[in-house]
Amino acid sequence: MKVLSFLLILISCSNYSTSYQILGILPFETKSHFAIGESIMKTLAEFFHNVTVVSPYPQNQELHFFKDVSIASAEWNGEYVEAEVPAFLNLEKPEIIPSLKFLYQSGEETVNYVMSHPKIIELIESGQTYNACIIENTHFEALQGLAEIFDCILITYTTYPSVYLLDRMASSISPTSYVPNSFLDYTHKMNFHERFLNTFNTLVERIFYEFYHLPNQRRLYQKYFPNAQRSFDDVYKNSSLIFVNDNPVISSPRPLTPNMINIGGIHVRQADPLTAKLQKFLNNAKDGVVVFTMGSNLQGTDWDEEQREAFLKAFGKLKQKVLWKYEDELPNKPKNVKTMKWLPQRDILAHPNVKLFITHGGLLGTFEAAISGVPVLGIPMFGDQRMNVANAILHGNGLKLDAADITEENVSKALNELLNNPKYSENAQHLSSMYKDRTIPAKMQVVYWTEYVIRHKGAPHLRVDANHLNLLQLYSLDVYCSFAVIIAAIIYVNYLLSKVICKKLFSSKVVKEKKQ
Ligand SMILES: *[C@@H]1O[C@H](CO)[C@@H](O)[C@H](O)[C@H]1NC(C)=O
Ligand SMILES: *[C@@H]1O[C@H](CO)[C@@H](O)[C@H](O)[C@H]1NC(C)=O
Ligand SMILES: *[C@@H]1O[C@H](CO)[C@@H](O)[C@H](O)[C@H]1NC(C)=O
Repeated sequence: MKVLSFLLILISCSNYSTSYQILGILPFETKSHFAIGESIMKTLAEFFHNVTVVSPYPQNQELHFFKDVSIASAEWNGEYVEAEVPAFLNLEKPEIIPSLKFLYQSGEETVNYVMSHPKIIELIESGQTYNACIIENTHFEALQGLAEIFDCILITYTTYPSVYLLDRMASSISPTSYVPNSFLDYTHKMNFHERFLNTFNTLVERIFYEFYHLPNQRRLYQKYFPNAQRSFDDVYKNSSLIFVNDNPVISSPRPLTPNMINIGGIHVRQADPLTAKLQKFLNNAKDGVVVFTMGSNLQGTDWDEEQREAFLKAFGKLKQKVLWKYEDELPNKPKNVKTMKWLPQRDILAHPNVKLFITHGGLLGTFEAAISGVPVLGIPMFGDQRMNVANAILHGNGLKLDAADITEENVSKALNELLNNPKYSENAQHLSSMYKDRTIPAKMQVVYWTEYVIRHKGAPHLRVDANHLNLLQLYSLDVYCSFAVIIAAIIYVNYLLSKVICKKLFSSKVVKEKKQ
């Protein structure tokens, strides 16, 4: 059946399909970011497009129609100053300024790194052109200048939803009354207090972006593309498509312009078979399995002594088995706990015996759990993780535990609630079925839209006509000001008139009174 539907999809696509030359620039050195770009590029290669991928993570094996251009740091002899990572662990409250500083700084480093990498210089000098360039944008907007060099249609994507740079590039709107800032722990349902803080933090972000980050990227653009015909501001707003790693079912609904396409969940591939040992462990867990991993950046060994003890004691009381991504020996662990240095997370979550996923709330894991119908216990650390966990709480498929509140008692309480109250698993199953009920899967969105903009030589007709508007005009503040002036003028004229009339009446009365 699956084979049949795959063939049908192939046939329906090959109606239009010619093989295009597509360049992917996926420069950000973080595995979770790469996973999204990699899924996009691999999908296009599966549909017979001739794909070239610039990234720090070359494939381990040769793939058809897929050519790697590795920009791994090892092949670069320049000076790479890593952005300063704020002390995220145990950060009690979301802090927007250190997070922005980190993002903007790593955005600048990435532009410098990519544009001086010998492999990129070689690619530029080769004179090769492409039908489309798919360029990641995690605050390195200057790289969009490469579209002119490779004479290609520009497609951008971000690996997370609901960020200001997307709205700014697409001239989309995101009212702070119901679009949560991705650094906070809010969803689209906010009370007054939350809307107040959401608006305030978003305003701070917009001001920094506008007056610090964009000028900086403009300067980098001028440095690396001195002969460009197009200006930074034109290129910045010229993406034919913007792929957004989001899905309103799993996160929060929000407005998008017609050229912004949700592809959230694209990285969730069909589950691969597990190793025999893991398969046996999961099959034999009659009461179910709790899976615990904090993603690729955080290690099990990062927990301090007390936190580790709290987890172990709470796990020891469960009838379920626990599979913990832990990179070291773990002495005194209860019988039901198994540790592994690395977990094939996607494949494990797809196993029917998995009852709970303990996670930092990264977007990829959150989507994998929701699509697999597994409830989550989120221990958010930084970036958009608080927002993702807040969404899971809103949808009723998860709970949150703050890192500062980790005690045996609190961990046990959360585990018991999630494992024994069936509503979490029912809600997770419901999310999964809503996500899967769609006209076309995320992968096909990528293929269809990429081919569409190439066929039609860009898609200015999908862009809202706001490129020439400044911020005052975009939000109609100039119009509201004229309304205010007109109303003030009317009130003033009325005031003058009534003054004159009053004077007339009053003076004639006085005259009459005098006469009497
Ligand atoms: C695919 O692209 C490479 C350059 O990246 C080029 O050498 C090759 O000829 C292309 N193949 C096809 C079939 O277009
Ligand atoms: C915008 O994109 C279109 C389609 O790729 C291209 O023809 C045009 O030259 C670009 N303009 C600017 C200013 O980048
Ligand atoms: C458990 O978590 C709550 C917050 O949910 C916190 O106020 C409390 O101090 C924690 N309990 C313990 C024993 O640490």
